[in-house]
Amino acid sequence: MTQAAAPQDILVHTEDSVMTLTINRTERKNSITSAMYAAMADALASASADAAVRVVVIQGHELIFSAGNDIGDFLSAPPSGSDAPVFRFLRGISQFAKPIVAAVCGPAVGIGTTMLLHCDLVYAGDNAAFSMPFVNLGLCPEAASSLLVPQLMGHQRAAELLMLGEPFMAETALELGLINRIVPPAEANALARVQAKKLAAKPLSALVETKRLMKLSNAPLIAERMAQEGASFGRMLTEPAAREAFTAFMEKRKPDFSKV
Ligand code: COA
Repeated sequence: MTQAAAPQDILVHTEDSVMTLTINRTERKNSITSAMYAAMADALASASADAAVRVVVIQGHELIFSAGNDIGDFLSAPPSGSDAPVFRFLRGISQFAKPIVAAVCGPAVGIGTTMLLHCDLVYAGDNAAFSMPFVNLGLCPEAASSLLVPQLMGHQRAAELLMLGEPFMAETALELGLINRIVPPAEANALARVQAKKLAAKPLSALVETKRLMKLSNAPLIAERMAQEGASFGRMLTEPAAREAFTAFMEKRKPDFSKV
């Protein structure tokens, strides 16, 4: 059973038709536990159902967007089954019909980067550092990133990001088409809000239809790829390479993959 997220770890605030989700666990670099995924999935479901919410903003802190999955949580309670909170969140964000705007500053690791592939507008602080280090953790891509990253930038550039897993900065992300604009970190959340309010003032039915049509051909592919990735990811989490990577992270040492 998923424990409830500490109420302050995911802040949900709705004002002027905009629901803002703030990842707020800075003491653990905004790493995301299953309870936090559950809270975000629930918030998206309620935003979807609530006619008073027209746009969602996802943001972190000026110095950290998210260090990705909480590694201790993954070690002690790896997600099991397609209804695990992380998969529920990923289905929720990928199928969300209304616009989503994101503001990203500082590190955006793993799902911190891949969730952006499902946002409509992304504003980044000039300190944003994106990375998808799945291979380095003995894992495979998630969030349909094995489909969406090559679609966005071509196979070779995607392979560099998904196989080497090295961080790339906001300038590169802009050039690759992952983000819309770079601003000083102190301005990123405010800009996301300004843009969200612009969207909220537009006819929602036209926004929803535009988004649906833009994603029409890809939507079934995304759902299918996410399911396939989820099955592999869930299996790989319990295998020796990932166990070694996670244990090494917790023990603050370099992983030794010589035997896996
Ligand atoms: N899961 C659990 N704890 C995490 C974490 C994660 N993903 N990321 C950071 N933390 C913890 C650290 O263990 C550390 O705990 P401590 O204070 O008990 O030592 C604390 O948060 C601060 O992290 P630290 O690494 O010291 O911060 P930093 O500013 O030097 O680096 C990052 C920030 C995000 C670059 C770095 O923490 C990192 O690479 N994290 C792991 C990212 C990752 O591999 N995520 C999984 C993706 S699937």
